[in-house]
Amino acid sequence: MTECPPPKKSPSENLPPANTGVCIAGTGMGLPAKVLTNDDLSKIVDTSDEWIRPRTGITQRYLADRTEHTSDLAAVAVLQAMANAGLEPSDLDLLLCATMTPDLVCPATACRVVDKIGAVPCGAMDLNLACTGFVAALTTASAFISSGHCRHVAVVGADCLSKIVDWEDRTTCILFGDAAGAAIVSRSEDPTQRCLYQRLCSDGSQWESLFVPRSEHDLPPNGQKPFEGKYNTLQMNGREVFKFAVNALRNSVSNALKATNLTAEDIKMVIPHQSNIRMLTTAWKKLGFDDDKIYVNIDRYGNTSAASVALCLHELTEQGRLTPGDYVIFVAQGGGLTWGTSLWRL
Ligand code: UT7
Repeated sequence: MTECPPPKKSPSENLPPANTGVCIAGTGMGLPAKVLTNDDLSKIVDTSDEWIRPRTGITQRYLADRTEHTSDLAAVAVLQAMANAGLEPSDLDLLLCATMTPDLVCPATACRVVDKIGAVPCGAMDLNLACTGFVAALTTASAFISSGHCRHVAVVGADCLSKIVDWEDRTTCILFGDAAGAAIVSRSEDPTQRCLYQRLCSDGSQWESLFVPRSEHDLPPNGQKPFEGKYNTLQMNGREVFKFAVNALRNSVSNALKATNLTAEDIKMVIPHQSNIRMLTTAWKKLGFDDDKIYVNIDRYGNTSAASVALCLHELTEQGRLTPGDYVIFVAQGGGLTWGTSLWRL
């Protein structure tokens, strides 16, 4: 058993100075090696590139193999984020792992990631909010930093949806891909760098729009149509989720702007969950953002659930398109139902 070492600083030193800032110090990503194109999929289910691409924006996705776990992808992403932030594993105070496909029901996947990156006994916690997970974890990390309890928090969104989709159901299996994306959230000397606005929401009354039943006891109440799916696979009402997500996306972003007195012009980038290109374009039309302010990479990865916003953040960072002082909005929505927004000054 590893002894928990004494805190690195005395408790009073851990308290933040009056004006502590919070920054994103590094980002990373982890992908499996295998690529599955739409044409490959058309050999598995009755579908085609001609159907998938215009309806979803997806051309390919990555798939983990049987021996590859969510924590493996997550560990790669966190190690890269730490290297980019110039940190050693021992610098981390906490690791938050957003996932709906944990390696095991117990222990938390975060514990396995901490072990795999050599950061034991760093604190570890999973957050299960489906596609909203990374935005919720980012916001949570920011709160741990500004409260003074942590200096460096690793936030990773990681999912292997390929392990829980029904590979005979063409309405779901075409959408998802496996990946992990990570960010290091750290204390900053610049008090203007921080999360300026956050809102996390849920509506559990709509849980059956997207769920994974384990047995007949987990199904929606009597009176609903007979269950035609399979246990332990993702069940989704695509049209309902689509309508909900467009509204959630639009309202979340517009509320964030109102609350901060910012306009679409002030925002450098909106970093949205990548669920469906039609969903994104429908939502943006009324928000007044130029297309080039909405980051899209769903074509290459599909919907990677908790990883998707983190992948976008990492790619934007690598492309040098984000600089200190920029305002960015992270926004996501998914199973639960859940939705969340986080507006940062980088
Ligand atoms: O992060 C949240 C996770 N969930 C989502 O993002 C899902 C949100 N929903 C969606 O993205 C869309 O609803 C889908 C892409 C899932 C489906 O698109 P749609 O335009 O809503 O299609 P639909 O379900 O209304 O189906 C239209 C037709 C149907 O055939 P009929 O009944 O008109 O003859 C389907 O059987 O398309 C058929 N279809 C397909 N055909 C070829 C459904 N899936 C496929 C497929 N390939 N993969």
